[in-house]
Amino acid sequence: MSMPSPSSRPRSGLRLLLTGSLFIGGIIPLWATLEAAPEGPKLGVSMPQESIRDLDISVFPDGTGLPQGKGTAVEGKTQFEALCTGCHGVKGSGGSAEELVGRSPLNGARPDQTVGNYWPYATTIFDYIRRAMPLNAPLSLSYDQVYALTAYLLYLNGIVTDTEEMNAITLKAVQMPNRDGFYSVWGNGGH
Ligand code: HEC
Repeated sequence: MSMPSPSSRPRSGLRLLLTGSLFIGGIIPLWATLEAAPEGPKLGVSMPQESIRDLDISVFPDGTGLPQGKGTAVEGKTQFEALCTGCHGVKGSGGSAEELVGRSPLNGARPDQTVGNYWPYATTIFDYIRRAMPLNAPLSLSYDQVYALTAYLLYLNGIVTDTEEMNAITLKAVQMPNRDGFYSVWGNGGH
């Protein structure tokens, strides 16, 4: 690694000499900086852009990252019955895995911690299903399937109608019932 130049002006011979003598009394002798840079440990390789794109699937609460695609609850019902009821139960409850449906009063003693009651943003439901579900085959769903499944879960929780299309625009406009029931660990502004 070469030493950073102390100035952007061209160095005079005198300046170089001074710099050299400073380092002799100090940390690194000048001649050491003129040797070839040592090689790194080669611990990794640069990732190709396509691989980065495949991993870059985060959807943020404000909808940033939502892909093209669309679906309604009517379409999502078919998908859900084929792919999800085995673990989550018919209509998203009563299965062995997490209850997805339920809207017991938020101010009650133990409100349901379901998609309807607990998730502050609809956008991140899309993110979760796309990256993690079905549990036994994550990342296997098309974007249309994920929009439809998200729409179906919102519908079962009484948040959208069964024919309302969910896409990158409409999904981020959905107001979740418990949006204001959270506070941000990052302070003002962000939920
Ligand atoms: C093999 C069983 C299994 C299948 C099939 C499955 N899930 Fe899940 N799902 C789980 C488990 C277990 C969890 C809880 C995971 C955790 O909390 O870490 C979960 C969590 C979820 C959650 C988050 C619930 C919450 O509020 O925390 C959603 C949403 C979800 N699943 C949707 C789906 C959808 C949609 C499908 C069908 C495409 C599906 N799941 C299929 C087992 C399954």
